[in-house]
Amino acid sequence: MKKFYISTAIAYTSGKPHIGNTYEIVLADAIARYKRLSGYEVYFQTGTDEHGEKIELKAREAGVSPQEFVDNLSLEIKRIWDIMDTTYDKFVRTTDKNHEKVVQKIFKKLYDQGDIYKGEYKGWYCTPCESFWTETQLNDGLCPDCNRKVHQTSEEAYFFRMSKYQDKLIDYINKHPEFIQPEARKNEMINNFLRPGLQDLCVSRTSFKWGIPVSFDQDHVIYVWIDALSNYITNIGYDVDFQSEEFNKWWPADLHLVGKDIIRFHTIYWPIILMALDLPLPKQIFGHPWLLFGNDKMSKSKGNIIYADDLVDKYGVDAIRYYLLHEIPFSSDGSITEDLVVERINSDLANVLGNLVNRTISMVKKYFNGIIPEIGPIESVDLILKEDVRNLKQKVDLKMDNLKIGEALDEIFKVLRKCNKYIDDTMPWVLAKDNNSISRLGTVLYNLLDAIRVCAILLQPFMPSTSKKICTSLNIEDRSFASADKENDLNSGIILNDLEPLFMRISK
Ligand code: MSP
Repeated sequence: MKKFYISTAIAYTSGKPHIGNTYEIVLADAIARYKRLSGYEVYFQTGTDEHGEKIELKAREAGVSPQEFVDNLSLEIKRIWDIMDTTYDKFVRTTDKNHEKVVQKIFKKLYDQGDIYKGEYKGWYCTPCESFWTETQLNDGLCPDCNRKVHQTSEEAYFFRMSKYQDKLIDYINKHPEFIQPEARKNEMINNFLRPGLQDLCVSRTSFKWGIPVSFDQDHVIYVWIDALSNYITNIGYDVDFQSEEFNKWWPADLHLVGKDIIRFHTIYWPIILMALDLPLPKQIFGHPWLLFGNDKMSKSKGNIIYADDLVDKYGVDAIRYYLLHEIPFSSDGSITEDLVVERINSDLANVLGNLVNRTISMVKKYFNGIIPEIGPIESVDLILKEDVRNLKQKVDLKMDNLKIGEALDEIFKVLRKCNKYIDDTMPWVLAKDNNSISRLGTVLYNLLDAIRVCAILLQPFMPSTSKKICTSLNIEDRSFASADKENDLNSGIILNDLEPLFMRISK
């Protein structure tokens, strides 16, 4: 069986994740479900990133220990991932004892082999972003990422000799055009970071305690990225001294899904750490765009944060999954407001999908007592619809293979719209009036049901419970993706089950 290892970034346990952070787990889930349905054995990993100065400070503010603080937030993040109906196989935490032990061993190995050395760190530090900046990187003296104040620091620290591997990495990236997606990001990484030359990376801190201690120098904690990035291997059985069967089975990962802001860490630092450990690199890293509130970054200070659980309470999980997956393009940022969500539910989910399925099933009930009719006389209008349905799976596959998730959904909705048009063209209510047209009416309704079957099967990765409701009503047993390639695969003579309500129009 073909294997597929997909991961998301691990979320910081510094606050409740907003709808933007939640987008990533939904995107990963759609891809993971799609791969499973396409016959792959999938391992889907997500989790939480729990160390660092910011978390230590927040815990102090909240009057609890850092451990208590991250325990609560990790649970909260998992709760939201579960509300979104995501099917991760493992939820990992960087405070997990095995992860901590293996990260210490990784650090020691890199030190022993001379990739990490002890030096002095001088520079500027942005606490909210947990980032160090050099003088030249600052933006008018402020953090170039968040525009907040930075403070100067100077302390003993360990460094990773990044520059040693940079030519090897440039060569690798050039030889593997699929490694960094979207492609524009690849050029950005090479031209802005790798070609100008990498600075040595500071990989330990002494200014805070909430981190994994360096095993041979207890004043130091391992600074965030070696700790966080290693999660992708420590949780599948990697150890410095031996390679477990599980590790050999799953590594290298097929796809690391991360936001555009951390693509640099995943396409430069992570591959270099792996090269130093003499491990193969992940096959692909996709830096997805961001979800903005209108045109703005979501932030507490702007008061424009939307939370996934609030939206799901109001509109249901599949509507929000659909919105996220459909509205964020492959390479440019997407936008969300509650008005936009309502518009999208009305235009696509209620008008197109809900309307089609409800109308079709109620006509089968009305004209055929709910029994799937036989195919009778065929007309040219049928052939056009059949052709669209026949090509659909291949089109969805192509979009999914290129990580164009929104466009895959568009292909399915194009066919759903064509079905609605087919109803307008064939006018089943007129056919029902004439006894001589009953077998023609049977063809029309059969074709609609079969088209809905194919769309419902293909919708599983994106809107699992909606798909299930439709498949249950149609008594579809084989829901594998391969069955979406079959034509006229519904059994005439079978009685339809009642359809659980799908989507209603919402007035603003
Ligand atoms: N802990 C690090 C990741 C370490 S991975 C080894 C981190 N955490 S985060 O909580 O800040 O972000 C988690 C993910 O959410 C990141 O991939 C980030 O890019 C993504 N997003 C954060 N805000 C987002 C939007 N507004 N829209 C889409 N994705 C967003 O970074």
